Amino acid sequence: MSVHQIYHKLNILSEEEFRAVVAHKVNIINQGAGATTFEKDGSIRINLDLQSQDLKWEVAALTSQHKRANDFAISKEAVVNFQCNIDNFIKIYGEPFYPAFEKIRKALIEIGVENPRPYTSRAYRHDDPYLPWHKHANTFKMHPNDYWITIMYLHPNWDIKHGGALRVGITEDEDLLVAECFSNSVVIHNGYYGHGVLKIYPGFEDHRDILLIQWVSEKGYQEVFL
Ligand SMILES: [Fe+2]
Repeated sequence: MSVHQIYHKLNILSEEEFRAVVAHKVNIINQGAGATTFEKDGSIRINLDLQSQDLKWEVAALTSQHKRANDFAISKEAVVNFQCNIDNFIKIYGEPFYPAFEKIRKALIEIGVENPRPYTSRAYRHDDPYLPWHKHANTFKMHPNDYWITIMYLHPNWDIKHGGALRVGITEDEDLLVAECFSNSVVIHNGYYGHGVLKIYPGFEDHRDILLIQWVSEKGYQEVFL
């Protein structure tokens, strides 16, 4: 298996599944009930305090240089899950999100990732015209081949005239993939890569909404989370 891999998978959900996510996402995105942490022992913490040490750590796990990282961090849309199971994420996001987690997991298996498990996620709105190139923080000090970043687009009816493609590369100077943010598509890459968003042009009537999930391979899980 090659170490360096980037993928863009179209129509990850069936039409019906995607419609259900689109209808349900308003219950999650920009709903500030606090970020959730599922601890290994089964306890649950809801974080509303941006000043807490825990939360600073969680912000690092979920974002690197994302604008408004702090706003995301105290919202319902942010989840850190030390049990690394899909079920806990669904407790927060709701059943309509289950096919998204499950089908992205299957896509990772097809790529060759052994027993992928989700450990952090955010379902968030990104209408800002720019997002600079960045690498996600390797908070858990895993091997870059053992953690994976998936970016799924939750906006229906996207037209590429609005821009907003994701550029993915090892460094900012060379794009290895430029993926349009098509509705119901997912970009998948491992920890070797960073990404940024190309200019977004105004005029899209909906919002540009994203489900970011970070995954760990079996090896990463055993080394870091077990
Ligand atoms: Fe990012």
